[in-house]
Amino acid sequence: MKLLVTGSEGYIGCLLTPYLRARGHDVTGLDTGYYRDGWLFNDNTLVPQVPETINKDVRRVEVADLRGYEAVVHLAELSNDPLCENSPELTFEINHRGSVHLAAMAKAAGVQRFVYMSSCSVYGIGQGSTPVDETSPTHPQTAYAQCKLMVEHDVAALASSQFSPTFMRNATAYGASPRMRFDIVLNNLCGLAATTGKIVMTSDGTPWRPLVHVLDISEAIACALEAPKTAIHNEIFNVGHDADNHQVRDIARIVASVYPGCELQLGQASSDNRSYRVNFAKIHRQLPGFECHWNARQGAQQLHDVFARIGLDAATFNARPFTRLKRLKNLSETGQLDEHLAWAM
Ligand SMILES: NC(=O)c1ccc[n+]([C@@H]2O[C@H](COP(=O)([O-])OP(=O)(O)OC[C@H]3O[C@@H](n4cnc5c(N)ncnc54)[C@H](O)[C@@H]3O)[C@@H](O)[C@H]2O)c1
Repeated sequence: MKLLVTGSEGYIGCLLTPYLRARGHDVTGLDTGYYRDGWLFNDNTLVPQVPETINKDVRRVEVADLRGYEAVVHLAELSNDPLCENSPELTFEINHRGSVHLAAMAKAAGVQRFVYMSSCSVYGIGQGSTPVDETSPTHPQTAYAQCKLMVEHDVAALASSQFSPTFMRNATAYGASPRMRFDIVLNNLCGLAATTGKIVMTSDGTPWRPLVHVLDISEAIACALEAPKTAIHNEIFNVGHDADNHQVRDIARIVASVYPGCELQLGQASSDNRSYRVNFAKIHRQLPGFECHWNARQGAQQLHDVFARIGLDAATFNARPFTRLKRLKNLSETGQLDEHLAWAM
């Protein structure tokens, strides 16, 4: 299949593109390169062969850029809550309007499938101990989550006999990627354990968060691209597996147990009310071939081994390209990005 992957230089995209190639697809990337100077490690197992990449902002993509592709996999957005809360208006501009624009251009170009990276954060506040599924009410708590829902809504309206969107509501990702991110929970806790020998939490860690390994996300995307149209046409899938629903304090305990001698201190109850347990039955039932191969403990061990091999130090752990908000703030404050997060020169 001839594919365009936006956000191909990101945490997920950098692993997804070689993964799709290994499954026989012809992959081109598209990315504006916000985090291009961050590359944590090389190895022979996560073969990060960089695909041919169109250096362009999603907001400026035209029909001509998309002609000839059978599917677009869309990852390129401002990708987490803190980044988006920093500038909700830019979040609506890039994540909502940019993504709907891309989908409309893809449809006009004759692209048949559009796989969109949504998020389980649309559930926001769950229903007590009952796991939420794709039919449950949503309660987005942030601009990031609101935009995910708005894109789902607007792109679903573009579905036709010639255009099949699919919405992947990913759990919070974890795991090693050369384009590492330390601003997501398990990766952050592993980085703290590796560089300081202790995890000091500011909250009590009671909220629930579902997790999913970055390579399992890649597999879900590949399965959605390869599935019969009837399985994926205008469908929403929660991406993950039931066993990787954790309370944050249990994620911290798992991480601490993987780093010998790591000290763990829990804090007080916090005002962050985002908490949800997720039911992942649909994707396992309806998406042919999909299964999760990882769990949080294996992911923590994988990161432990990578960090030991490269001698992760505090300077690298805290470096800008690995924490999205720090990186974009620096690019803006130094005038490299303008007020719309477009490159100034
Ligand atoms: N990582 C997670 O935990 C997680 C969970 C659920 C959903 N998702 C979604 O998956 C997608 C990818 O996530 P990620 O963790 O790889 O993010 P990331 O921030 O690591 O990568 C995003 C990439 O998109 C590019 N980009 C951003 N805005 C762009 C624009 N306007 N034009 C062109 N390129 C642009 C960036 O340069 C970057 O390389 C995002 O949509 C994110 O919301 C991620």
